[in-house]
Amino acid sequence: MTELRFQSVVFDLDGTITRSGEGIVNSVKYALSELGQPIPEDAVLAGFVGPELRDSFMGITHLDQAQSEEAVRLFRKRHEAIGWREAKVYPGIFEMICALKRHGAYVALASSKSLMLCERTLEYFGLRGLFDKITAPVPGGERLSKAELICRCLPETPGKSCMIGDRKFDMIGAKEAGVYALGVLYGYGSRQELEQSGADELCQDVPALRRALLDDAPREKGRFISFEGSDGCGKSTQLKLARQYLEDCGIEVVSTREPGGCPISERIRALLLDTGSMGMTDECEALLFAAARAQHINDTIKPALEKGAVVLCDRFVDSSIAYQGAGRGLGDWVRQINQRAVEKCLPDLTLVFDISPEEAIRRRYSASQADRIELSTGDFHRRVYEAFLSLCDTDQRFYKVDASGSIEQIGETVRQRLVKLLTEYAEDDK
Ligand code: TYD
Repeated sequence: MTELRFQSVVFDLDGTITRSGEGIVNSVKYALSELGQPIPEDAVLAGFVGPELRDSFMGITHLDQAQSEEAVRLFRKRHEAIGWREAKVYPGIFEMICALKRHGAYVALASSKSLMLCERTLEYFGLRGLFDKITAPVPGGERLSKAELICRCLPETPGKSCMIGDRKFDMIGAKEAGVYALGVLYGYGSRQELEQSGADELCQDVPALRRALLDDAPREKGRFISFEGSDGCGKSTQLKLARQYLEDCGIEVVSTREPGGCPISERIRALLLDTGSMGMTDECEALLFAAARAQHINDTIKPALEKGAVVLCDRFVDSSIAYQGAGRGLGDWVRQINQRAVEKCLPDLTLVFDISPEEAIRRRYSASQADRIELSTGDFHRRVYEAFLSLCDTDQRFYKVDASGSIEQIGETVRQRLVKLLTEYAEDDK
């Protein structure tokens, strides 16, 4: 087990874990446009991130007092609803906090933002469960200095402790609280600001911060997630949303698809889906899917997992089991021809989007032109659907998602399942 340099690690939120500038700037733009005011360039608007809003509306955009009050109200309206979600977690932070927990550190948050916003932000980005304690102001509550916030979030016997932050308030608070002050240079404060306010040490970026806290080599294994279901189940839309979400969490993502996902397999895809291949035998079809998969694993999936990325794959081996095994009636042979390539590369999680074949057909006909396999008739699609459902009962890696709701509802279900998988990083030290 790695020696921890600090047994207790306290983080600031904005500028240290998340970058909330975009949500702030967008909400300022909204307020100004609602008031019919001209909208300055982004470089000018960046000045709104940090200081008191009302002062910025008066100082930067020259609104009078009454207009500024109204601008703050409009700002809050948008920020409360969507702006806070436009934050992004700095790349590498999620894995680093997981690693701290894995090595037994006490992890806390001391922020001057409201407690509700802190909780909501950590929750949304899947980090809430990794924090032992959060201290932040509550409306109408005591006004606490940063030092008090830091002291209150430490455990009874904190051991060696540090405060990590990007602004002078964090460094000054750390010193007053008697903990080590670790400044980060990737947030909103400058080197000069942090040095002058007593930082004990500065870290240029997240990898440097990680080295300052843990002497392990980052060795997160990647995670492999496949998206499955009948044609028209909405998995491709959900995969795009999942990708965006994980990127916002600062996690490296590789998204890919089957058949295809690398140059050779994309050529096989063209052959498979071309309506000019109508005479193709079922066996040829199954072997081509397996062949494309073998190349795809080698060229795309394995290299991405080895570098620690999260791989999102639109269809994988379970599509062959459902379409060729059950749909075409080739049975267990399909599993056998896939075994060799797939055995060392099974998904950690397979999301099966469950939509009735009737609804799927309705959706498909309103979508673009059908490919050769989609044009299969009879009860082919019903067999495929039932095969997906019965796969869900065979192994823990499957997770059935009710795909009959709205895109947002389904997206939220997927998000929660992704968070569960990714925070297992914190326990999993394989
Ligand atoms: P896909 O690209 O998912 O099509 P769409 O984006 O239109 O949903 O998949 C193409 C077709 O290939 C689809 O009908 C399912 C089929 N397929 C199989 O029959 N076996 C397989 O192993 C795979 C990966 C796909």
